[in-house]
Amino acid sequence: MKSTIFKFNSMMASLLPLLFVFAIQSWRVTSQQYNNIFILAGQSNMAGRGGVNETTATWDGVVPPQCRPNPSILRLNAQLEWVEAQEPLHADIDVTKTNGVGPGMAFANRILEKQPGMGLIGLVPCAIGGTNISEWERGKVLYTRMMKRVKASLQLQGGGGVEALLWYQGESDTLLLSDAKSYRRRLRKFFSDLRADLNSPLLPIIQVALASGEGPYMEVVREAQLDTDLLNLRTVDAKGLPLGPDGLHLTTQAQVSLGQMMADAFLQFVPTSLPKNNALPIHNGAPPTRPYNGASQIYMLPILITFLILVSLTLL
Ligand SMILES: *[C@@H]1O[C@H](CO)[C@@H](O)[C@H](O)[C@H]1NC(C)=O
Ligand SMILES: *[C@@H]1O[C@H](CO)[C@@H](O)[C@H](O)[C@H]1NC(C)=O
Repeated sequence: MKSTIFKFNSMMASLLPLLFVFAIQSWRVTSQQYNNIFILAGQSNMAGRGGVNETTATWDGVVPPQCRPNPSILRLNAQLEWVEAQEPLHADIDVTKTNGVGPGMAFANRILEKQPGMGLIGLVPCAIGGTNISEWERGKVLYTRMMKRVKASLQLQGGGGVEALLWYQGESDTLLLSDAKSYRRRLRKFFSDLRADLNSPLLPIIQVALASGEGPYMEVVREAQLDTDLLNLRTVDAKGLPLGPDGLHLTTQAQVSLGQMMADAFLQFVPTSLPKNNALPIHNGAPPTRPYNGASQIYMLPILITFLILVSLTLL
């Protein structure tokens, strides 16, 4: 009699860790299904030219530790599928150019480092080198393609929400004074159209104030960027970050700094009291909104463990 009880208890004892591991695993899978989607749009410095030799049109392949892949960072590829993200993020998007390191991976890694329980980061690269803001107007090809990609990303397995737009553009609008002067109006229009079309009037936007320009009117565009004052818009200033020999494109190290600056700007939207493993509270109304169910599972875990301990104590 005693020996059977003993056997049963030792069996329970060996099962407990297994059950524990299983409970943690199922909780992790659930909490990781939520995709925190970030739109990456703009021109070449968002697409990334870090490590690109413009003469030979080759990328040096150097990926700093801050830009390394992570199973929790996904990228929507050109076929509208989630794949594990790696540099260059825009390789199959900005296809007519040689892509290198941009701010996206450094951004995502920094977010995960500061908010480890956030779940998956889904990057949606849309930037195209050499494009002016008129080409990003609602109804134009670039805007339409961006919206198509964002909507596809929202409908993919796991669900999710758009957390922010990361925007770095304007170098091409520094060529003509008339363009530079229209930048302020066009920028506001672009931001508000995007928010309206995503049904997310307060969508966080992290934009970059120019570090360089193709023409002489960089300061006019920068002024427009720095002056634009919209709710939930944060501007990160890239001026002073190291540029490559072309004087236009950020170096790899500059892109790492920029990505981290953008992440820190975004994290200002996240209250520090945020419970671990919860979705970001700034979650907008972008369709389809799926209730985040990771949190309830967290509360289930201690209950389950207590139950298991009680059962084993009773059997003892
Ligand atoms: C680009 O490659 C060419 C040819 O190999 C080389 O001469 C040049 O120095 C390179 N430029 C930079 C900035 O590394
Ligand atoms: C923007 O770029 C397009 C394509 O290069 C060009 O046709 C157009 O004139 C430019 N528009 C402005 C306002 O600069």
